[in-house]
Amino acid sequence: MTSKATTAKQQGGSKDSPTKTQQIILTGDRPTGPLHLGHYVGSLRQRVALQKEYKTFVMMADAQALTDNANNPDKIRQNILEVALDYLAVGIDPKHTTIFIQSLVTELAELTMYYLNLVTIARVQRNPTVKDEIKQRGYSGESVPTGFVCYPISQAADITAFKANLVPVGSDQVPMIELAVEIVRTFNRTYNCDVLVEPKAGLSDITRLPGTDGGGKMSKSLGNAISLGDSTDVVQKKIKGMYTDPNHLRVEDPGTVEGNPVFAYLDAFDKDKKELQTLKEHYRRGGLGDTVVKKRLTEVLLAELDPIRARREEFAKDPAQVMRIIEEGTKVARAAAAQTLKEVRQAMRIDYFESR
Ligand code: TRP
Repeated sequence: MTSKATTAKQQGGSKDSPTKTQQIILTGDRPTGPLHLGHYVGSLRQRVALQKEYKTFVMMADAQALTDNANNPDKIRQNILEVALDYLAVGIDPKHTTIFIQSLVTELAELTMYYLNLVTIARVQRNPTVKDEIKQRGYSGESVPTGFVCYPISQAADITAFKANLVPVGSDQVPMIELAVEIVRTFNRTYNCDVLVEPKAGLSDITRLPGTDGGGKMSKSLGNAISLGDSTDVVQKKIKGMYTDPNHLRVEDPGTVEGNPVFAYLDAFDKDKKELQTLKEHYRRGGLGDTVVKKRLTEVLLAELDPIRARREEFAKDPAQVMRIIEEGTKVARAAAAQTLKEVRQAMRIDYFESR
């Protein structure tokens, strides 16, 4: 990709030649609560690392959050600021990244409407992530809101409205990207055009962080999350209470590293891989207590979280300024989506009053 970018530059970077800086990222989060380590490892770190290289859009998916919170809009509203603070705190920089609110880009709702016609009910019902979420939320039979079952279609609209090439997400979002790719292909084939761009999932090396309870996924609603804004005290307490190897009862006992969330977190955050390897071997052999390992995790994690928390507190002093950043970003995002919608309407031959 680098060589391509160089070539385009050497050629004077004509308007149509895709240089690397024109590659686009779109990703986002539902503002249902403050963001946690799972978001950080799965996606936020990548966004920060890539934002200078890619044209980056980061979206607060309030409309998606409403698909299972229709009767609780205040929760979503309150979390807009929380999530924005998390973004800024981890280093998502409004100079490089457009931060915006999904529902205010109404073109996304319009595009969703057209995509609904390209996807069968059987196809939406096959989405493993949505199936899990339906179970988790306790919807029985067909009592699940239509908007919830169909949110992956709306997510395809989010991604494609920005012609995103790359979508940095955790592994649970892969089925969404797969559907988006299918919709792109179906759309371009059906309307005999090349308006839409196929996205790729950008997966980090650690695609899923377990909860502090050892559960499969860290999630605020499951109560097993460490939030980015958690205080030192809270982080210490959560690590102290973390699930480890239940058979590792005495210090002398050999312990299991695999599936042990304390080691999963160390894998994600400890930069000294060599020492971590030694630690793992010692744990497996026996003679290394959970408290020692947890102490190390506490140090490593606080070293990462302290500066994030400090930046968060700094930005939190001026919420009006944060809201202005989002408002500006939303304008920019809306213009980008409107351009795609214009092309979409033309391809679909519903651009009745546009002169060709
Ligand atoms: N479904 C994503 C989540 O739960 C949030 C989201 C909405 C998203 N639209 C998106 C992510 C578009 C990537 C691209 O985390």
